[in-house]
Amino acid sequence: MITKPKGTSDIYGKEAKIWKYIEEIVDSVMEKYNYTYIRTPLFEATELFHRGIGDTSDIVTKETYDFVDRGNRKLTLRPEGTAGVVRSFIENKMYGSETLPVKCYYNGTMYRYERPQLGRDRELTQFGFEVLGTDDPLSDAEVISVAVNIYKMLGLKDIKVEINSLGDSESRNNYRQALLNYLKPYQDKLCDDCKARLEKNPLRILDCKIDSATDIIKNAPTTIAYLNEESKERFETLKDYLDILEIPYEVNPQIVRGLDYYNHTVFEIKVDLPGLSNAQTIGAGGRYNGLVKELGGPDTACIGFASGVSRVVLALKEQDVELPIKKEIDAFIMYVNEDEKKYALYLQQELRMAGFTIETEYTNRSLKAQFKQAERLKSKLLIILNSEDLDNGEVQVKNSNTKKTDKISLEYLIYYLDEQLADEDSLTLDFENFQKQTSLTDNCECEHHCSHDDCHCKD
Ligand code: HAM
Repeated sequence: MITKPKGTSDIYGKEAKIWKYIEEIVDSVMEKYNYTYIRTPLFEATELFHRGIGDTSDIVTKETYDFVDRGNRKLTLRPEGTAGVVRSFIENKMYGSETLPVKCYYNGTMYRYERPQLGRDRELTQFGFEVLGTDDPLSDAEVISVAVNIYKMLGLKDIKVEINSLGDSESRNNYRQALLNYLKPYQDKLCDDCKARLEKNPLRILDCKIDSATDIIKNAPTTIAYLNEESKERFETLKDYLDILEIPYEVNPQIVRGLDYYNHTVFEIKVDLPGLSNAQTIGAGGRYNGLVKELGGPDTACIGFASGVSRVVLALKEQDVELPIKKEIDAFIMYVNEDEKKYALYLQQELRMAGFTIETEYTNRSLKAQFKQAERLKSKLLIILNSEDLDNGEVQVKNSNTKKTDKISLEYLIYYLDEQLADEDSLTLDFENFQKQTSLTDNCECEHHCSHDDCHCKD
């Protein structure tokens, strides 16, 4: 038997419905925030990710799937979505548009050669979004709030937002030097990878999977202490904006992020779940003001976020979130002889086109077996065809819940089905309920019209 490659998954059945549901929520929230969908290639020129002196992160140095195609081109399966979006932004001259910022989102497969474990896949799906062309901290706050709202819409609870600032290049360089001075005496105590990172990119050591747990790193200087005035002010503004949006956050000075392109705001979103030890970070992002220029485009300030879908699914399961996913079908059409079968063939098409979810019999089973099948499929209604009724222009419809059977004229069948199914739940995205939760009705009196009781704007 040929089995799937290590670190990949088959998503099917009930699990696939959860994945589809997450996609729908992402689409609907993104629409409200006016982000447009973007699809970039699954593979890109290797140099997009391996940028010479550029990236020293594990994701890029150790985890990419690199290959040479039949035309001798060096290609890489994308390990993340941001670089591809930036390449596309430059190549398609989106920066020339008068509608900056460009706000786009994606939902797609990425590849990382990692050691597979729960919530850490080699083939992973991320949804993510990027805002290209603004440095305003309002966009930092928006990106964080979009992420939080997607998770809230999905029904996740106890979402923790952790933020940090790496500052502008001056702050980052000062910090880099301070960290280097601090780490040098401990050089021998670092893991082999970190020894190599020390001169190239000491920041990387802070989120090394091995060294980050040691006291050396825990006591290391923090980025915040090295922010210059401008960067400090920017970070304070972001905090103000998050307060206005009522997004609780913690400042975590340890966050430096696994990719090298960040500056100013970096953030991670976590759920505190015991079953998820290594997968608690369900999403992460940050500002990358230098990347467009580094890749040959004009100086463009950007910020973005991405979330691992398999981790979100794990979190939903851990928290027992009940998703409004349709488990039932509307009706199962039953028949016995060839004439009835032909009518079933016609009727299922008509009813499906009228908007009902319909199943029918495909393997000429007995009527008794068809009843069992309808039960397995949780069919709300059973449409039972027999030649005699059909000659009279009628069918029998049995309600699985009430067990009541009615004989219905074909002319009125659609109205009858509508009526029978009217009280049932349908798969709707519950924006209305979400609105109620956020309760914009009891605003405080401040100029920002905040809705929290202890409005910080007054301070
Ligand atoms: P990242 O932190 O590498 O950032 O990945 C973002 C999220 O993807 C993680 O928080 C996690 O939920 C998920 N993820 C990462 N690796 C795996 C894996 N092996 N298996 C399952 N899920 C995984 C980025 O990818 C940046 N592009 C985010 C960003 C967008 N920054 C700016 N814009």
